[in-house]
Amino acid sequence: MPLDRKPAPNDLRAFWMPFTANRQFKQAPRMLVSAQDMHYTAADGRKVLDGTAGLWCCNAGHCRPRITQAVSGMVGTLDYAPAFQMGHPGAFELANRIIDIAPEGLEHVFYTNSGSEAVDTALKIALAYHRARGEGSRTRLIGRERGYHGVGFGGISVGGIVSNRRVFGSLLAGVDHLPHTHLPENRMTRGQPEHGAHLADELERIVALHGADTIAAVIVEPMAGSTGVLLPPKGYLERLRDITRKHGILLIFDEVITGFGRLGSPFAAQHFGVVPDMITCAKGLTNGVIPMGAVLTSAAIHDAFMQGPEHVIELFHGYTYSGNPIASAAGIATLETYAEEGLLTRAAQLEAHWEKALHSLADHPHVVDIRNMGLIGAVELAPVEGQPGKRAFDAFLRAFEAGILIRVTGDIIALSPPLIITEAQIDELVATLGKVLKAGS
Ligand SMILES: Cc1ncc(COP(=O)(O)O)c(C=O)c1O
Repeated sequence: MPLDRKPAPNDLRAFWMPFTANRQFKQAPRMLVSAQDMHYTAADGRKVLDGTAGLWCCNAGHCRPRITQAVSGMVGTLDYAPAFQMGHPGAFELANRIIDIAPEGLEHVFYTNSGSEAVDTALKIALAYHRARGEGSRTRLIGRERGYHGVGFGGISVGGIVSNRRVFGSLLAGVDHLPHTHLPENRMTRGQPEHGAHLADELERIVALHGADTIAAVIVEPMAGSTGVLLPPKGYLERLRDITRKHGILLIFDEVITGFGRLGSPFAAQHFGVVPDMITCAKGLTNGVIPMGAVLTSAAIHDAFMQGPEHVIELFHGYTYSGNPIASAAGIATLETYAEEGLLTRAAQLEAHWEKALHSLADHPHVVDIRNMGLIGAVELAPVEGQPGKRAFDAFLRAFEAGILIRVTGDIIALSPPLIITEAQIDELVATLGKVLKAGS
């Protein structure tokens, strides 16, 4: 092995890896040792084109100088500040900058350390908000089939992915689910699908069943990513907004993936022209560099808590690392990088090229659907009989060998490259994926 290549650690037993086939991985490890811009470097020295922005989070690409400098500078200036009853300037500055790019009407930021915590925080705020207004009977939470809202108990309860739920007991009580929006008639759609706005009307059925005065909030991903890129049909989110408003139910958009430019606007709410009462975000908030999430709320929600004696804590909730100085510095530098390079709208410019490239895979072996929006795409494969997920997982392994990082969920290949990708790199990513699909059985 040449001296400039780092050896892989040779004992892999201790680390129990998250959402990973541990035994398979440890037999044939896929180690990344460095990254720059659009590429990772694997332990054997190979450059790997990042087709997934890490895990949907490195929207500005990797090891970007402004973010690296901000983080290293803050580590040596203010390593930590207590998050409760004390403050530091960075957390306030970042909150203001997030609100500057957020949809009109969202005016406050509550920090968490992850998307999962942002979701659980938003659900708790929804319950406490109704109680603060004297509507404490609103305790039900409505999620959606195939939704992914992280892995906290709140998130898996409103989430709708069976393997994330089935072995974890009875979850939160009082949760119901809307049907998912993935309809066969929308196969091979380019952009937003035509059919399915009526699926939002299922909320009326749920309201009729339970009574609006028992329902606190509805949470959906405006575009569902982790479950395999499920796009909202035209008119669906608008209808969901109308029905929630009519019944006094809060609408929460989980924008952990769609936040920070993925669809060509800062948030999906702006892309679709539908403003929820709360947005959860994480990932791209710090370009994935330091863990951080956030809940954005309307003034009405925030203000409902600002009552009672002024020395009393208004919301008994928060994390040791809520808005920590280093994450805040990373967040500010990330938003500056996005602004300087026009990254929050770049997906809209690349979308046509992306769509054309992706759909060129339609006639490849076992491809049953392709869907895209902004800089996100999915290529769905027919499962191997009796072995769901195997075909896509094998493609993922071959893709890594071929020099591209893709992500798979079941038999769906999801692509979400950093927003700095060039048209030539899109062509390279898709051409390599095409070869990988052709080489599969
Ligand atoms: C929509 C959505 N919500 C929540 C999460 C959970 O975020 P985290 O893994 O940071 O807890 C994710 C992660 O992919 C997500 O896609």
